[in-house]
This record gives sequence, structure tokens and C-alpha cells, in this order.
Amino acid sequence: MRFTVAIDGPAAAGKGTISKALAVKFGFAYLDTGSLYRATGVKALEVGRGVIDPAVAAQLAGNLSQTDLDRTDLRTDVAGQAASKIAAMPDVRAALLEFQKNYARRDGGAVLDGRDIGTVICPEAEVKIYVTASDEIRAKRRHKELAQAKPELTVAQVLNDLRARDDRDAARDIAPMRPADDALLLDTTELSIEEAVRQAIIAVQAHLK
Ligand code: DC
Repeated sequence: MRFTVAIDGPAAAGKGTISKALAVKFGFAYLDTGSLYRATGVKALEVGRGVIDPAVAAQLAGNLSQTDLDRTDLRTDVAGQAASKIAAMPDVRAALLEFQKNYARRDGGAVLDGRDIGTVICPEAEVKIYVTASDEIRAKRRHKELAQAKPELTVAQVLNDLRARDDRDAARDIAPMRPADDALLLDTTELSIEEAVRQAIIAVQAHLK
């Protein structure tokens, strides 16, 4: 059975939480596509000693290993910014395209979250959800995650970082972040995790016949 759930939206809107819950509920495989860009970005920074070379980044993207994806430093703000920068490079996106397309149409169903899943990776996805939340709520949520490892980080810094990343992700020429025309919009600003997941489950159930 092929069944793809495409979850897109800006940083820290709740995509990951919702995607994982859907994958468990329906027994689908789950791919956090942001981790591909994060792993590439972090490695490209290392190789270039702080300076990212687009050709090197594209080569690294095409040769990612499980070890790269299992790194424990992928969720940092540095990794997020590096990911957003290399994600605007066409050769990097091209190197990651086929793997994601195949993953989306694998047998048994798949949930993918990212920025361009419903528009570029799998426009034929059975379910498309665009998850958003206000900038302030997203910054507070992300700050809670990051402050454990970096207590000096302020909510204002996280907010700036998120906005910079969202602006770059939405403004780039290639595969910009945007809702697919047929995506369901899910604003989680006022929703509990349980309620957001419940609404996403209903959306999937409506298409699972
Ligand atoms: O979802 P995330 O915060 O882990 O993603 C990190 C960055 O990777 C994000 O700012 C933009 C990029 N990205 C992308 O361009 N396309 C995707 N499908 C997923 C992530």
C-alpha cells in the first residue's frame, strides 16, 4: 500500500510531534527531512571550518550515512541555521531529492515532515497538512527545548533565529516553504499537543479507505 502524509510548515510549529504520533497511530514509516539538511549543514561547516562551500555541501548531501543522521548535535540552533543556508542551494536539494521521493512512496505508508513535502517531494501525497503557530509561541516552545543545553539563550534570541530561518526558507528560489494548494492548515497556537494530534489523525482517517 502506498500512502503518504506530507507535513510542512515553519520551524517549531509542532510538525515533528504530530508526524511521529501519526506514524505510530497508523504504523507508517517516518522521515524527519530536516535532519537530512541539518546533518549536511553541520558536516559542511566542519569541513569548511565555519565556511560552507556549496559544491562540498552537495557532495556531503549525496553521501549521508546513518552515523551522520544519528549525531546528537543536530537539534542545536547552529545546526538549524546551517541547515537553512545549505537548503537554499539547488545542488544540495537535488542530491537529497530521490531518497525522499522514494521514501514517500515506499510500501506500507510514510509520514514525512519538512518544508516542501507537499509541493515538491510528493505532490501526489494522499494527505497534506501545513502546520503553523504564532512566532511567539514557536519561539517559546523551541526555547524550552534548547535552554536545557544552553541556559544563557533568551526567548528573544530564539525568536530572531526562527524568523531569520523562516524568511530564508520561504524566500528561496528553489522549493520555498509554502502550503500546497490542497493542504489542510493546522494552526497549533492555541492547541494542546493532544488536540493537534487528534485533528491530524482525523485528517488522515478521512483519506484512509
Ligand atoms: O525542520 P527543521 O527545523 O529540522 O529544518 C531545518 C532546516 O532545513 C530548515 O530551516 C530548512 C531546511 N529544510 C528544507 O529546506 N526542506 C525540508 N524538507 C526540510 C528542512
